[in-house]
Amino acid sequence: MEELDFENRLVSPTEIMGENDSDNPLRPRTLRDYIGQEKAKENLAVFMEAAKQRHESLDHVLLYGPPGLGKTTLSGIIANEMGVNLRITSGPAIEKPGDLAAILTNLNEGDVLFIDEIHRISRAVEEILYPAMEDFAIDIVTGKGQMAASYHLPLPHFTLVGATTRAGQLTAPLRDRFGVSLRLELYTPEELASIIRRSAGILHIGIEPDGALEIASRSRGTPRIANRMLKRVRDFAQVLSDGVITLDTARTALERLEVDELGLDANDRRMLTALVKFYRGGPVGLETLAAAIGEEAVTIEDVIEPYLMQIGFLNRTPRGRCITRAACLHLGLELEEAQDGQIRFSE
Ligand code: ADE
Repeated sequence: MEELDFENRLVSPTEIMGENDSDNPLRPRTLRDYIGQEKAKENLAVFMEAAKQRHESLDHVLLYGPPGLGKTTLSGIIANEMGVNLRITSGPAIEKPGDLAAILTNLNEGDVLFIDEIHRISRAVEEILYPAMEDFAIDIVTGKGQMAASYHLPLPHFTLVGATTRAGQLTAPLRDRFGVSLRLELYTPEELASIIRRSAGILHIGIEPDGALEIASRSRGTPRIANRMLKRVRDFAQVLSDGVITLDTARTALERLEVDELGLDANDRRMLTALVKFYRGGPVGLETLAAAIGEEAVTIEDVIEPYLMQIGFLNRTPRGRCITRAACLHLGLELEEAQDGQIRFSE
């Protein structure tokens, strides 16, 4: 079977180079401008206000949820609202304990250190992070044998903002050191339509409300996808008509981009089709499904499945993944009857 390319598709929530630049004009800079995630936003506003009143740094914050929902954006907002600097890095980029020590010792009082994909830091790096988070200090050992010396290095009070796709991927001791834990949820089409209208305003793109809603409902609950689609639909609107995105131009453009009414692209359809054709709709184990479509299990779990589950197309059961009747109806697929005469739909 042909390999699926989930990373480089229009509807991939993982970022493309340049999209995540901190000077991205589409990135809101204040909580007021940040649309959606009401629960996380309300709590965060209280924690930030309380820390400011006490003249303290904000407690460490863990952000978790599917990719593309605005974790980096939120860390920028936290730094901006607290009036401090933001330093951005990621779990895989911190290779050695010394790398982390260098970052930590260069922070200023109150600064926000954002570590993306924090579940991917190594054990050795994690060991440095514990005392840094808890006591704002690191212990550095230099030399060997008789020449060995240990230094206790105090650090400024900083705020660690850690981001991960699943809180369960963190070790318990690391998870426990975050005072604040916020779960980000997929956005509703209405919230995404607001984000699209805001982005269109910033980019000077003319868009009608139902054009925005059309793009929104095909963006898989993810602002990063919505903003990317907005730019591509603008190209069609500009070349095929007068540049203004209407319901009609949005539909035409998205059809040409092979993104269906629900935001599924050819790759999603092929994964769901494989589930039906090879496994009678499931249940099938994650690893088996991953091997069948040439995709990594974690990508399926963190990137592809959250949206399919939200729209009721897929269920995770203890025995494996099952497609739902709604998905089969949408795809125009029929499930074969199993030998016992039962059709194995999962509702
Ligand atoms: N751009 C990307 N995410 C956003 C959000 N949550 N609110 C406003 N603009 C955004």
